[in-house]
Amino acid sequence: MSLQTTATPGKVAVGAVAAAGLLAVGRCALALLVDADLSTWSARCRKSYFQDKVVWITGASSGIGEEIARQLDQLDVGIKLVLSSRRREPLEALAKTLTCDTAIVTCDLNDLDSLDKVAEDAIAAFGRIDFLFNNGGVSTRCFAEDTDFSVDVKVMTVDLLSYVKLTKLVLPGMIERKFGHIVNTSSLAGKLGMPLRTAYSAAKFAIIGHFDALRLEVAQHNVHVTNVCPGSVQTEVARNALTTTADKTFGAADKNIDNGMRVERCVNLFLAAVSNNIAEAWMFGSSKERLFSYLAVYMPGTFRKLTLMQAPKLMAQARKLTSEHTT
Ligand SMILES: NC(=O)c1ccc[n+]([C@@H]2O[C@H](COP(=O)([O-])OP(=O)(O)OC[C@H]3O[C@@H](n4cnc5c(N)ncnc54)[C@H](OP(=O)(O)O)[C@@H]3O)[C@@H](O)[C@H]2O)c1
Repeated sequence: MSLQTTATPGKVAVGAVAAAGLLAVGRCALALLVDADLSTWSARCRKSYFQDKVVWITGASSGIGEEIARQLDQLDVGIKLVLSSRRREPLEALAKTLTCDTAIVTCDLNDLDSLDKVAEDAIAAFGRIDFLFNNGGVSTRCFAEDTDFSVDVKVMTVDLLSYVKLTKLVLPGMIERKFGHIVNTSSLAGKLGMPLRTAYSAAKFAIIGHFDALRLEVAQHNVHVTNVCPGSVQTEVARNALTTTADKTFGAADKNIDNGMRVERCVNLFLAAVSNNIAEAWMFGSSKERLFSYLAVYMPGTFRKLTLMQAPKLMAQARKLTSEHTT
């Protein structure tokens, strides 16, 4: 008995196209279900990437930065940590709970002139910096029309210019040693604009532009750049957000943040993205954030129409939030 095959080159090609189409549909469906972009979601933290490295984390006294320190310590791979923020006390309390070598270098990211000395001290602590986590930051909960220009300046300084300056200060050493990794905490607010966050969104969008360009310049030196874009994460970010003047903080909960992603999960994804050298990582605190992010990037026209249609509702919610809570 002879077996006959009816496959022709044309049928094989159609089959291949159909299989590729099904795979693409499957990936799209999965992307709409999981809590991060697919590359980040499917990555696992490669411990060896951090073996014996010196890691500088800004914004380490709270939230995402504190959790980055904890999870790096737990890797138990000989990491040395330089912890920075304005407040020494919570940094000391954190350092006491860690088993790795730590150094504390306090800094005010709003004081750009002081950062030369801050970076000098951070480098001196263990002789070099291999990883810089530019993470310290401040958000806003205020309407642009009501907000003093000093708030825009402060947010751009802390959330953007300090990242640019600290990076310039550690980069020469990284280039000389032919290894380094700059990690920036941007935000999904750096991919799409939402009410109450004009200055914040501007800084977070600009991080991506600046550091995407830098990535291309420094790749030849084996220096890498990862921009991380979390959505809502359960931290103090809303309570610490600025309002209409640079000395007023929001001081209250924002339910999107309180119902957002747990900080432990955010940092799991964060370290998976960094250790796999993923250029840009997205994390979603809710299904709405996921849908809006994909629409904003892949269907910007539709996104703008939809959000403009929703603008009256968003503005009413924003007015309620600011009138109830501004301190
Ligand atoms: N939580 C979210 O939903 C979310 C989403 C996307 C992106 N992010 C970003 O994640 C980063 C960390 O925020 P978080 O959520 O962990 O909020 P957080 O709990 O308020 O922590 C903010 C950190 O930044 C430090 N910081 C603020 N202003 C500073 C300054 N002028 N100089 C030095 N350090 C300063 C704070 O320390 P000191 O007060 O001790 O100075 C603190 O350690 C920020 O860049 C934020 O924009 C957060």
